Amino acid sequence: MRRTLIAGNWKMNGSLAGNAKLLGGIKVDPTRYAACDLLVCAPAPYLAQCQAELAGTAVAWGAQDVSEHEAGAYTGDVAASMLAEFGCSYVIVGHSERRAYQGESSEAVARKAVCALRAGLTPIVCVGETLAERQAERTDAVVGQQLDVVLQALDVADVARIVVAYEPLWAIGTGVTATPEMAQAVHQMLRAKIAAKSAEAAAKARILYGGSMKPDNAGQLLAMPDIDGGLIGGASLKAEDFLAIAQAAQAVQAAA
Ligand code: PGA
Repeated sequence: MRRTLIAGNWKMNGSLAGNAKLLGGIKVDPTRYAACDLLVCAPAPYLAQCQAELAGTAVAWGAQDVSEHEAGAYTGDVAASMLAEFGCSYVIVGHSERRAYQGESSEAVARKAVCALRAGLTPIVCVGETLAERQAERTDAVVGQQLDVVLQALDVADVARIVVAYEPLWAIGTGVTATPEMAQAVHQMLRAKIAAKSAEAAAKARILYGGSMKPDNAGQLLAMPDIDGGLIGGASLKAEDFLAIAQAAQAVQAAA
């Protein structure tokens, strides 16, 4: 069985004092959520703080973006090797906010995923459709294409090392969640895409759901067979909510 990954995406939120409180609140007894992997993806300037606070705990930390280049004259970029030096084990690539506001293409997202893997990081590859695309019944085509571009750039051996996050844009930060059945249908389609490249990788790869996941809907979403965790924005900023989602994941795993 795949271990559930409960990943917080802090987005551009936080302060040294606020983070200390939040991290203090989520540093729990590792045996409490033993069936889950816990992760926070913090803004780059706070990765050293995450490393200092979380090293030796059951909570991993990661970044929200990475350069598609390894080093050099790319002002403002942060290389995967730098994230690795600060103990990151994961990095989000291709979040819809970056695709929308920074114009990131799926090809750029694929190059970022490759850089992350080379540095030993696990890329969390985000895909998702807009409301207009869903209404036009183009969800599978749009989301499938976003994943295909990344899969094409990877060696078969690396396909098993990625995490995918399905995040419908109309559900992000809106309080509207995809129903468990809607999300499951897309996750199943995405797993079939991975299986076309490697059946073994498809069995192993974790596919997260993101978009207004909260303590009160997490259990139902996580109970679906192809939903292996959550990428959580708003609810990851409160220790209590983040841990309540981990608790829901733990209960689903225990019941399986
Ligand atoms: P949300 O954000 O949980 O606030 O909807 C999820 C995300 O964008 O990763």
